[in-house]
Amino acid sequence: MRQKNPEKMAETIKVLTEEKRLFPPPQEFKESAHIKGMEEYTALYKESVEDPEGFWDRMAGIVDWTKKWDKVFECDFEKPEIKWFLGGRLNAAYNCIDRHLKGFRRNKAALIWESDEGEVKTYTYQQLSREVNRFANVLKKKGATKGDRITIYLSMIPELVIAALACARIGAIHNVVFGGFSSASLRERISDCASNLVITADEGVRGGKSVPLKRNTDEAIADYPCVENVIVVKRTGAGVSMTEGRDTWWHEEISEPDIEEISEPEEMDSEDPLFILYTSGSTGKPKGVLHTTGGYLVYTALSFKWIFDYKDEDIFFCTADIGWITGHSYVIYGPLACGATCLIFEGTPTYPEPDRFWEIVDKHRVNILYTAPTAIRALMRYGDEWVKKHSLASLRLLGTVGEPINPKAWMWYHEVVGKGRLPIVDTWWQTETGGILITPLPGATTLKPGSAGRPFFGVKPLVLTKEGKEAGSNEGGYLVIEDSWPGILRGTYGDPEKKRMKELYFSHFPGLFFTGDGARIDGDGDYWLMGRIDDVLNVSGHRLGTAEIESALASHLDVSEAAVVGYPHEVKGEGIYAFVVLREGMEVPGGFEKTLGGQVKKVISPIARPDKIQFTTGLPKTRSGKIMRRILRKIAGGRTEDLGDVSTLADPSVVDELVKGRK
Ligand code: WTA
Repeated sequence: MRQKNPEKMAETIKVLTEEKRLFPPPQEFKESAHIKGMEEYTALYKESVEDPEGFWDRMAGIVDWTKKWDKVFECDFEKPEIKWFLGGRLNAAYNCIDRHLKGFRRNKAALIWESDEGEVKTYTYQQLSREVNRFANVLKKKGATKGDRITIYLSMIPELVIAALACARIGAIHNVVFGGFSSASLRERISDCASNLVITADEGVRGGKSVPLKRNTDEAIADYPCVENVIVVKRTGAGVSMTEGRDTWWHEEISEPDIEEISEPEEMDSEDPLFILYTSGSTGKPKGVLHTTGGYLVYTALSFKWIFDYKDEDIFFCTADIGWITGHSYVIYGPLACGATCLIFEGTPTYPEPDRFWEIVDKHRVNILYTAPTAIRALMRYGDEWVKKHSLASLRLLGTVGEPINPKAWMWYHEVVGKGRLPIVDTWWQTETGGILITPLPGATTLKPGSAGRPFFGVKPLVLTKEGKEAGSNEGGYLVIEDSWPGILRGTYGDPEKKRMKELYFSHFPGLFFTGDGARIDGDGDYWLMGRIDDVLNVSGHRLGTAEIESALASHLDVSEAAVVGYPHEVKGEGIYAFVVLREGMEVPGGFEKTLGGQVKKVISPIARPDKIQFTTGLPKTRSGKIMRRILRKIAGGRTEDLGDVSTLADPSVVDELVKGRK
């Protein structure tokens, strides 16, 4: 297994172009914030880690339970065994909708959807309730029941939220697959969790282009007869083939006469699964990270409320696609559990022009904007004018997620978008953590551009050296988490004995949760995230395993071997560099790079297509046959003058060829 990687760690301790200025919370913000200053944070944090039982017992009231828990938690990272709010019963969809219908929120906007073309649709909590109820009835009519896995393959349209909440309402486990994934990736994710119902659309629309979602679905399940039902949203009206007896239209299903009946939410145990979300790791195929109901909901709701300092009058705009964890936790569950108004956007930041985000902010008077560093860097390149065309006066808080933000991009976000007055929350977390773990609190933290601040309540991170000792101040090392928090993953799908879970997350440093990230803690106790230290790439905030891309390349008949590494990329954060060895004696055919790019697109997704492909006759391997990725990373990153010791290679001459042929 390829895993801990000290060389990559050393490489990633990049000396950031340090921005020394500090940004204390603005007085006005501080006064009205939920957490009003460092003293309050420190006291509450202390309580949360010294008495987690008492703290979470008090906090869990943020959601409504039909039966209170008997015990707050039972966790053992050695096994691993993780349970929160044992014996408690609740329903996530009830918490995200029904409970808001009793008071003033009934007529409040829950979702504001802006389409790629600029059309707007708004759902109040009352309206969302009707749609979710109707679709829950549709699912039941199809025979779906508690525990069934339902795959949702849609682009960013309201039906995606409705479908997910309808699953939660009936106790089915949703498996959302990002609409940018290929049919092969979709098939893998449908079959791994043995899902027999798929929800998709005729087409998805993004940045003026359409994505053939239904066609991809047809391809994905052509040789997988276990899918009995496909429900299709009519998004564009494009002609699609509908398989008799299997495929039906969403709009027809929800118009059936008996569909309005009230479907009571299924009462779930706190530890019943809520959803699976596939994510890439350093080895093998993507794994289905499993989250359960009670702890996840408490954690996403509380973190949403305090980190984004959410108040009932705010409009929250998270630009993430629901196909990723950010969309699950901070478009659907956290915000809706808090009764928030969420803006969801179907398109891209640059279509039709690179001021689309800013146009949306002004049009809807958005108050809180949560986006990714890659989007910020991309927009920054178009120049300040695009931002300055808009007032952005409604904004009061900015956030980022997905990858380290470089101080230059942070400063631009702060000065040009935030007019120098808005706090920025740089939130660090992962699919596996369920919610944000390390973050500033906007009314408390003095911000340092590039630092993600301190741990959220109840979270105990540690930075360890290779030997497992606590790293000194600014030394850097492996980021691990001691002890459990309510939002942590409960397993990976298809691994009831938790063997894989143990190996992936709890074996590197026994008894501690291994994040796969490098970090350093500065003298003040602030965290600086340094990126992945395993073989996972973070390309434009998308998580991709090098092993997956290598296997997609090697699935081409003419490829004998491939090795993929990341290299610094100005906009994407990390670019994908592939070293490819063709079949013995084969010349590189003209246009072959494009062919291989197409192969990766077909097997995984366009997001995994290598930026650079270098053909070579060999790869640098040790005598035992292990590829020395350290060397490849240096070549890909242009640091060829310092390749380190190559004498342990089986054939050191290959290094010269690689350096000469560098792209
Ligand atoms: C990276 C996304 C630095 C990190 C929520 C992590 C970050 C991986 C940050 C998880 C941040 C996320 N600063 N790095 N603020 N946020 N990451 O599972 O490497 O898609 O391990 O979850 O993104 O990606 P995932």
